[in-house]
Amino acid sequence: MDQFAIEFALKADLEWLVRHDKHVDRAILEKKLIRQEVLVARSNDGIMGWLRYSLFWDSIPFINMLVVLENHRRRTVGSSLVQYFEAHMKEQGHSRVMTSTQSDESGQHFFRKVGYEDVGSLLLPPEPLEIMLMKRL
Ligand SMILES: CC(C)(COP(=O)(O)OP(=O)(O)OC[C@H]1O[C@@H](n2cnc3c(N)ncnc32)[C@H](O)[C@@H]1OP(=O)(O)O)[C@@H](O)C(=O)NCCC(=O)NCCS
Repeated sequence: MDQFAIEFALKADLEWLVRHDKHVDRAILEKKLIRQEVLVARSNDGIMGWLRYSLFWDSIPFINMLVVLENHRRRTVGSSLVQYFEAHMKEQGHSRVMTSTQSDESGQHFFRKVGYEDVGSLLLPPEPLEIMLMKRL
């Protein structure tokens, strides 16, 4: 099994994240690093995956993005990132967390596997149905 640690992304990770996380721009990522809203799984060889979050309704922690690099998948990196996130949110006093996945993405099966339940859906044409998921901490 790979050795890795989960931690908040550092300022020094910005360039790596800008290259890999194509869904948000640099300025947003920079702010999120300062606010500690990005977690990374790090090994001696570098970052293996990341989790980016924010607060839905300014109150419920919401995983916006979770990606494990392809060559590191199915080795507990994704579930470790999620566990760290959940433990940190619980420590902050939150009693539930949320996320969403497109209905054509296999990530939905991962989230159900780690305890998330379907709580609704969102249709934003032309995208496929977005499934909303929640877990009580
Ligand atoms: C989804 C993803 C984050 C999972 O990361 P991972 O490091 O491979 O997951 P883990 O090894 O921690 O797996 C935890 C459990 O979920 C299961 N699992 C992982 N990916 C799965 C999938 N695509 N479908 C079904 N089950 C899955 C594993 O088998 C494991 O089960 P086990 O405890 O019985 O062994 C990773 O596959 C990924 O980055 N996918 C592309 C991006 C994505 O879909 N992100 C999520 C939506 S934003």
